[in-house]
This record gives sequence, C-alpha cells and structure tokens, in this order.
Amino acid sequence: MIAVAIDGPAGAGKSTIAKKASEELGFIYVDTGALYRAVALACIDGNISIDDTPAVEKLLPGLDIRIIFFNGEQHILLNDNDVSERIREENVSMAASRVSAIPSVRGYLLDLQRDFAKRDNVIMDGRDIGTVVLPNAQVKIFLTASPEVRARRRVLQLEEKGMEADFDKILFDIVQRDYNDTNRKTAPLKPAENAVTVDTTVLTLDEVIEKIVSIIKEQTA
Ligand code: DC
Repeated sequence: MIAVAIDGPAGAGKSTIAKKASEELGFIYVDTGALYRAVALACIDGNISIDDTPAVEKLLPGLDIRIIFFNGEQHILLNDNDVSERIREENVSMAASRVSAIPSVRGYLLDLQRDFAKRDNVIMDGRDIGTVVLPNAQVKIFLTASPEVRARRRVLQLEEKGMEADFDKILFDIVQRDYNDTNRKTAPLKPAENAVTVDTTVLTLDEVIEKIVSIIKEQTA
C-alpha cells in the first residue's frame, strides 16, 4: 500500500490538490479535517461547549462518524445523517480547530484514519498525517501559502458560490486557526522531518497539482 500525507495550514489548497492528484493517480482521497468538523458539529447540535472538555469526552462514545465514497466523492455521515455540506459552515471551521486540541478527540479519530491506509492506496490530508497518523507514509508533503493569499482564495471560492465574503474577517479567522493548530500541545501542525515543503503563494492550481503528482511519482517509483 502507498500512503501520501499532505499536511498544512487552513486554506492552503490541500483538499483541492489532494483530490485532483488522487484522481490522476487512482488513489483514495481522505480529508481528515472532515472528521474533526463532524465532532465539532455534534457539539454544536448537542449544545455542548467546546471549552467543556469532560462534556465533549462524554459525547464521543455515542458518535457514529463514517466516511463513505459516493460517485467518487467523499461524504461524511454523522449518526447516519449526511453532514458533508453543514460541516463546511464557517462556525464549524473554528469549532473544529478548537475541538481538535482535545487529546481524547484526536485519540478517538486516530484508528479511523489509520484504517483507510490499511485498505487502499491513499492521499490523506490534514495537520498531523505525516507526523502522527501515518509516520511511515512513503511521501510527505507540507503545503503552505501566505495567510493573505489563502484568505483571497477563500473569498473567491465563496464569491463563486454566490456567497458574501468579508476578506478581513476571513483573514482574521485564518490567522486565528493557524495559531490554534500550530500551538496546541497534542500533534501540532508542523512539517514532518522528511516532508517536502511546497509553498503555493505564487503558483497556480495547475502548477501545484503538477508539482505534487511529480513528487509522488518520483518518490514511489
Ligand atoms: O482541514 P480542515 O480545515 O477541514 O480542518 C478543520 C480543523 O480540524 C483544523 O482547523 C484543525 C483540525 N485538524 C486537525 O487537527 N488534524 C487533522 N489531521 C485535520 C484537521
């Protein structure tokens, strides 16, 4: 089995790039952020404060979080409901970043993530895939870009969907999430020792995909 780990900060384009690269290579793409988002959504729906760690921990055993692939797309099921759309809402992003700092939440999701890599060739994206989840991954990539460029891309994405976007607020949230994800005690965001860092600030999407696919091919040849 081949495992490719793509880690990096929020909005660096990991999911778009990992999805395209996995289509090209015939690998399964696993977006691990969706799992943290599902836990966050369960807290929001259950009126549980994310600061209340014991309450969040009490919720975990009752959760049924599954990833299924439907027409080649990843869908996330929370207690049998398809929450793939709801987990993308902005309040869920910040809640996911906060809930992901709780060590028992990370432990709860660990085996779920590792199981994917046992069954298929995978490209998995997240924050700690190369460092913690799949430390033996054959390829490790750290994808990054400046906060301003990441915020600008997010604005464009929202505008394309006909949604309103406030650049300053989005930039503020990105910087805040970077801080949370990098400074937490358990499995903080950082490049794995042997990761290749790809800075996409001045690259187009096609250039990044080409680069990533060629790194993967080179390192798994
Ligand atoms: O990739 P994303 O933006 O959908 O992830 C949402 C949050 O989940 C992110 O702010 C940090 C957390 N996360 C994590 O801690 N570890 C992962 N492997 C993936 C996501």
